[in-house]
Amino acid sequence: MKADLIVGIQWGDEGKGKIVDRLAQNYDAVARYQGGHNAGHTIVVDGKKIALHLIPSGVLNKSAVNIIGNGVVVSPEALIKEMKQFDDLKGRLFISEKAHMILSHHIAIDQAKERLRGAKAIGTTGRGIGPAYSSKVERSGHRIGELRDIERLSESLKEYFEINKPVLETLGVEIPSFGKIKEELKIYQESLLPYIADTTKMVWDLLRENKKVLLEGAQGTLLDIDHGTYPYVTSSNTISAGACSGLGLSPKDIGKIVGIAKAYCTRVGNGPFPTEDFGEDGKKLRDRGHEFGTTTGRERRCGWFDAVACRYACRLNGCDELSIMKLDVLDGFEKVKICVAYEIDGEISEDFVFDLSKVKPVYEEMDGWDRSEGVSKFENLPKNAQKYIKRIEELTGTKIGMISTSPDRKDTILL
Ligand code: IMP
Repeated sequence: MKADLIVGIQWGDEGKGKIVDRLAQNYDAVARYQGGHNAGHTIVVDGKKIALHLIPSGVLNKSAVNIIGNGVVVSPEALIKEMKQFDDLKGRLFISEKAHMILSHHIAIDQAKERLRGAKAIGTTGRGIGPAYSSKVERSGHRIGELRDIERLSESLKEYFEINKPVLETLGVEIPSFGKIKEELKIYQESLLPYIADTTKMVWDLLRENKKVLLEGAQGTLLDIDHGTYPYVTSSNTISAGACSGLGLSPKDIGKIVGIAKAYCTRVGNGPFPTEDFGEDGKKLRDRGHEFGTTTGRERRCGWFDAVACRYACRLNGCDELSIMKLDVLDGFEKVKICVAYEIDGEISEDFVFDLSKVKPVYEEMDGWDRSEGVSKFENLPKNAQKYIKRIEELTGTKIGMISTSPDRKDTILL
């Protein structure tokens, strides 16, 4: 069996949560492969709000296994807090022994560096993501599996703090006492030990046993560390290829790949965003789409659909199909715009470019529509909304398999 994959096509917040939540009902396992608690979505179940940042969305399907892969950076503190929302995780949640930990100094470094960057700040979520991945790549990180031996781990952390003391002091990062380190690690050990596993082998076994596995990407393609709008990106490979390294899969293990994009674009944090609308339309998109971050509560920047970036993202990820989310947010606009090319210093490019900050969008304007909200059949969509969807399909060269017309699970058009 091959694993299916869901990946964000824009700058994150595409509404992957709704899709994964819906699909998770049909899968035996859901696995996260990158990112950390910078991601997040809220799901309402029986009137109760559940906030998910690290735990895969399959947690709401009682018979699914949930895996936090080695490519994820795990804050034990955040994970333990999130786990408290459930009382039946044993045997349903597994954390890779190879996943790196985000510890409090990573968070302090993230926030201190953002302050120092001043006007050039990345606008991170301040959750220690970048510093934790830096420690991993620099080979001074600590893995979840090390919680099995607290004595050795605290010694190793003590050494880390000794070596890094000058840097940490300059950044104003507090160095914890040996006693405090041990005390914290003990809490992490007690809470997390039953969940630590060799998840690489676990995923292999699931696939060998013909179980259905869904791979859940976090953030979006344009925030990918290699292929996104560097340096205004997150610190992991958000694209489908990240699932291979982030779980221990081979490219041959991946089956269907579905890209998730909103019918317009949003971005949180800084960095170039060619189709951003600074006027009334951008404001209207934000209000109608409730575009405020789930993790940080920040206002999202809003703008029009960027078909150039979407085509690039579909190619990078190898998308078999696209799901278009929040089409209803575009209801009530007299005209809607799609970016079909970029203009850079008078030259026109239909390809994504190295420096997006120099780009001016070339728009195609289409007539708007009312009342797509709640529609669950394509033929019942207003004609102009149908044309808009067809145009996206044409421009991106990717089949649209699903359209979402409200946050409700049932308001979904399957094509
Ligand atoms: P970091 O991942 O916290 O280091 O933040 C780096 C950039 O990625 C910032 O622009 C964040 O706003 C953005 N980012 C990180 N996680 C998410 C997410 O889940 N949705 C949208 N943007 C995100």
